Amino acid sequence: MTIKTEKARSKGLAPGPKLPIAKMLFGNGGPEEQLDFLLSAARDYGPVVGFRWLNRRSLLLDHPNHIEYVLRINNRNYLKSKNYDPVRLVVGEGLIVSEGEFWRRQRRLAQPAFHRKRIASLASLMVDETEAMLERWASSARGRGEPFDLHREIGILTLKIVAKALFGADVGEDAVGRISEAQTFLNGYVDSRMGALPKLPHQVPTPHNVRYRLALKDLEGIVYSLIDRRRRDGGGEDLLSMLLEARDQETGEGIGDVQLRNEVMTLLIAGNETTAVALSWTWYLLSGHPAINQKLHEELDAVLGGRAPTFEDLPRLSYTTAVLKEAMRLYPPAWIFSRRPVEDDEIGGYRVSAGTTVLISPYVTHRNPVYWEDPQTFNPERFEEGRSADRPEFAYLPFGGGPRKCIGDRFALVEGVLVLATVAQRYNLRLAQERKVAPEPLVTLRPKEGIPIILEERS
Ligand code: HEM
Repeated sequence: MTIKTEKARSKGLAPGPKLPIAKMLFGNGGPEEQLDFLLSAARDYGPVVGFRWLNRRSLLLDHPNHIEYVLRINNRNYLKSKNYDPVRLVVGEGLIVSEGEFWRRQRRLAQPAFHRKRIASLASLMVDETEAMLERWASSARGRGEPFDLHREIGILTLKIVAKALFGADVGEDAVGRISEAQTFLNGYVDSRMGALPKLPHQVPTPHNVRYRLALKDLEGIVYSLIDRRRRDGGGEDLLSMLLEARDQETGEGIGDVQLRNEVMTLLIAGNETTAVALSWTWYLLSGHPAINQKLHEELDAVLGGRAPTFEDLPRLSYTTAVLKEAMRLYPPAWIFSRRPVEDDEIGGYRVSAGTTVLISPYVTHRNPVYWEDPQTFNPERFEEGRSADRPEFAYLPFGGGPRKCIGDRFALVEGVLVLATVAQRYNLRLAQERKVAPEPLVTLRPKEGIPIILEERS
């Protein structure tokens, strides 16, 4: 224990390491270094770690009880932090960033669109789109063993699935292509505005900011025209029609056009890249663990015997589900998120002043050896029935927790398992080069430089 640590503790301040400021300013630390830095900080100083940066204080919480306290027990004192501001540049006051009574109303209105029955009705769309992707693979050089970037391919698939789940048959290939292009740019734009360094206001017409405005205009043009068409023609069984029909129980009011645009943009942005990241890491891990891959194939052969999976098969695909959950433990797509206390508080005996940034990192907590034996090892059996019983609920939080838990968690799990089962029945995915793929900790934890893969048809 250093003198500084003792001093911080005696003042009620959480102790923590010095931030590697030169690396943060000049970016000469690799992305993995940032993750390792947080991991070691949590192990050396945890469970509450204090950081200081340009007079701003942040705290990293690593104890499941503290995380539960912020996300569930005292959640009304903890708003989304300023780190979410760049997201507003795309989704306005969409569900993921709105607060207070307004958020509560929007969440109530959107919730029925994510009801179990609704998700069940989307299962065949998820499988059909995956089979169409496999057909494209089979009829191209990929089917003959040419390497390609799996992350990019899965990103296109998950975008198609969420776009069709939202808009149904109204969204054609051309619109999906434009949505994909605009959204890829906007994701990168949001990433570029995160981080500790001050940024030029987005209104300043730099080439990057001008491109942002054009991409946003294009995406919202598509979204507004799909909303208009649906208001005019009615019908549809998709998420958009659910949002259009939603009425506030007390006032009978629906969602206006601007807010509908915000919610649709939120679902497009939140519901696509995250799932693609989860699936990409799943295959990366499977490709390095042949025995686990084999066990996955055995379950698929036993339960499905070569036919396409359905929603009803999901309870019997327990190992497949465990593989996905374990991949999200090691590489949680939403690897960090944050809150800002409105009033002073205390956590674990340490002072938490109003305005402090409170960081919660599933990446760090999912690798805490107190809750996870041999935490760096990929072992899906941890998630088999009955094995999670003594783990605190908030030791595993790929979808967050409390009232602001991901609204799309069931959608994502169903989609993830169905896509994994459909692809793995037909192909074995092998890494094209035997090298480690590094995670890039941006808004999501994507594989830096993608995942080069070669297909091997299963006999
Ligand atoms: C593997 C895939 C996914 C992961 C890992 C994930 C993760 C998360 C996390 C951690 C949060 C909470 C953030 C916080 O507390 O600050 C969140 C919120 C949210 N997610 Fe997801 N998500 C996934 C898929 C989806 C899908 C498929 C959709 C929609 C189609 C979606 C829509 C949302 C929305 C709207 C919120 C905000 C909810 C609210 O604040 O009320 N997500 N997600």
